[in-house]
Amino acid sequence: MDRHNLDGDEAVRSTNDDASHCKRFAVHLGYWSDPYLPLLVRNTERKTPEINRGYFARVTVITNMVEKFIKAMKGNCQIVNFGAGFDTLFWKLKGADLPVKKFVEIDFANVTSRKCHYIKNNNKLMEALHCDDEEVSYNTTELHSGIYHLASADLRKLSEVESKLKECSMEFSVPTLFLFECVLVYMPIQFSHSLLQLIADKFSTTFCINYEQVNMTDRFGDVMLSNLRSRGCSLAGVEACASLKTQEDRFILNGWDGAQALEMNQVYHGLISPQEIQRIEKIEFLDEKELLDQLFHHYCICVAWKDSLDLKLNLLSIS
Ligand SMILES: C[S@@+](CC[C@H](N)C(=O)[O-])C[C@H]1O[C@@H](n2cnc3c(N)ncnc32)[C@H](O)[C@@H]1O
Repeated sequence: MDRHNLDGDEAVRSTNDDASHCKRFAVHLGYWSDPYLPLLVRNTERKTPEINRGYFARVTVITNMVEKFIKAMKGNCQIVNFGAGFDTLFWKLKGADLPVKKFVEIDFANVTSRKCHYIKNNNKLMEALHCDDEEVSYNTTELHSGIYHLASADLRKLSEVESKLKECSMEFSVPTLFLFECVLVYMPIQFSHSLLQLIADKFSTTFCINYEQVNMTDRFGDVMLSNLRSRGCSLAGVEACASLKTQEDRFILNGWDGAQALEMNQVYHGLISPQEIQRIEKIEFLDEKELLDQLFHHYCICVAWKDSLDLKLNLLSIS
């Protein structure tokens, strides 16, 4: 496919292929284990060591935080992965015996239809969806079981998002974790603000993990933006990625109680176990350490909370 001819939304949807191919290659090299990803992404395409380490840090820290949330809630919680793409977190959690009450994934229909096709045609992926003999129902773009829902919506359209959350029987009083892994940056901030406000309005106890760009107002940011533009993909929401503070402020402005953002440099050296870092740093020789430092300086994890139950859960602490 010629990336230059893609319209804006098509280019945004195709970022899922980039992310899932990068994850697939890193899994192939042994950065982390994911027996489910090869069932959704068959081919491996070589990526640079910086990219592989970047994805390792992103996936490891998000997985650790999600597991921490589930353990703290003793499984009595819901997870919504917005812009989930071909993410396999639901199956990894099931495999680790960490099920939740409900796991919902939402993306553009074009992406969910492909994921739906792969799930329906694979016994291992399908088996995990069954719970208490409840039927698994599906059409071309959606798949619903008692515990897992794959639904299609344009996240810029609040009414679509709201009706999908209802169709998935989300319970607004159950503690719910929202994930945005490289998603909000693709929509103009008035849309991401409304979406964050909707979550804060509806859910009484809610946490959010947002992974995306930060410190984008420097030369490195300009180059990243112009590279993406040349592939037909503008980062329409880059305004919120100016600093850690702008990342935190977007939550406070939209009804959340608090937010804390950390650069991936801080995350890599502070939130991932030294043994894990030692293990993965032996996988490939890294020629340009500065390049990885720069990459880590331009991505962050922001955690936000609305904590009506006073759980005082700190997802960014080490334990
Ligand atoms: C970079 S990919 C990340 C996929 C996945 N979260 C991951 O990290 O592997 C961005 C995803 O967000 C989805 N996305 C972006 N804007 C969206 C919107 N307005 N509505 C629905 N999905 C959207 C894209 O289709 C794509 O799957």
